[in-house]
Amino acid sequence: DTLSDRSLRAVAQLIKDGRAKQVVVMTGAGISTAAGIPDFRSPKTGLYHNLARLNLPHPEAVFEIDFFRSNPAPFYLLAKELYPGNFSPTVSHTFITLLAKKGLLRMLFTQNIDCLERAAGVPADRIIEAHGSFATQRCVDCRTPFPDDLMREYVKRGEAPRCTRREACGGLVKPDIVFFGEQLPETFHSNVAVPGLADLVLVMGTSLLVHPFAGLPCRAREGVPRVLFNLERVGDMGTRADDVLVLGDCDSGIRKLADELGWRDELEATWRG
Ligand code: OAD
Repeated sequence: DTLSDRSLRAVAQLIKDGRAKQVVVMTGAGISTAAGIPDFRSPKTGLYHNLARLNLPHPEAVFEIDFFRSNPAPFYLLAKELYPGNFSPTVSHTFITLLAKKGLLRMLFTQNIDCLERAAGVPADRIIEAHGSFATQRCVDCRTPFPDDLMREYVKRGEAPRCTRREACGGLVKPDIVFFGEQLPETFHSNVAVPGLADLVLVMGTSLLVHPFAGLPCRAREGVPRVLFNLERVGDMGTRADDVLVLGDCDSGIRKLADELGWRDELEATWRG
């Protein structure tokens, strides 16, 4: 047993004893790479390392609101590849669904825009999509919503739609994804204190480099175990006595936790659908 294996057993015991029943989960792109969606910052495979073909001033520009207003084409080239519908939830997504089914999920904070949490069956009222999602879209100027079916056609063609409001606004349409330079949704701000109510925090597949999301794990009370499932150590994870680092791919780490909980068969059966 490695130290983290023994600690996972202790974490599982907290859940089995009913001492952890307000679990707060925080996720990022790393929980969806096994579904075939690239993350942003991994060397070689990350999106930001593969954007040279888009001729951007710097990779993050593809998600910057000012750049988008001046040149939406790169974003729409990318949107075609990232658009939900082509991907299935991972074991890690499914584990969050199990937590919800068992009444243990207080809240999931996700940075992901792939909608795979919803697809996995996590109830909508338990998900904070901190960076928005591809589920809806609107005009960046007059904020008028744009129809889903039309949007799908534009994304398929890799074209930027224009506002169709009758008064001929003509503004650019953008999915309700939070770009750099934009506010996070109101639901993020109104729930930002929820991690302080957690009795267990699970952080999965994020570099914890983008604020304010990256500040969420620090809001856990001292003494509340924080478990990191990630390829690498990130943020301040590992600096508290009760932190548990499960380094490696998150599906493997989650399967180990499921083993310790006695949930493994249920996890695999639910995942296979
Ligand atoms: P990043 O790409 O910054 O970080 C992904 C993290 O997951 C890295 O630490 C990887 O090592 C890790 N990882 C990758 N695959 C993994 C796997 N199979 N198992 C475990 N860990 C794995 O992605 P985010 O942290 O989500 O914002 O990025 C945060 C925000 O930056 C995104 O929401 C996006 C981006 O710019 C917007 O688009 C507004």
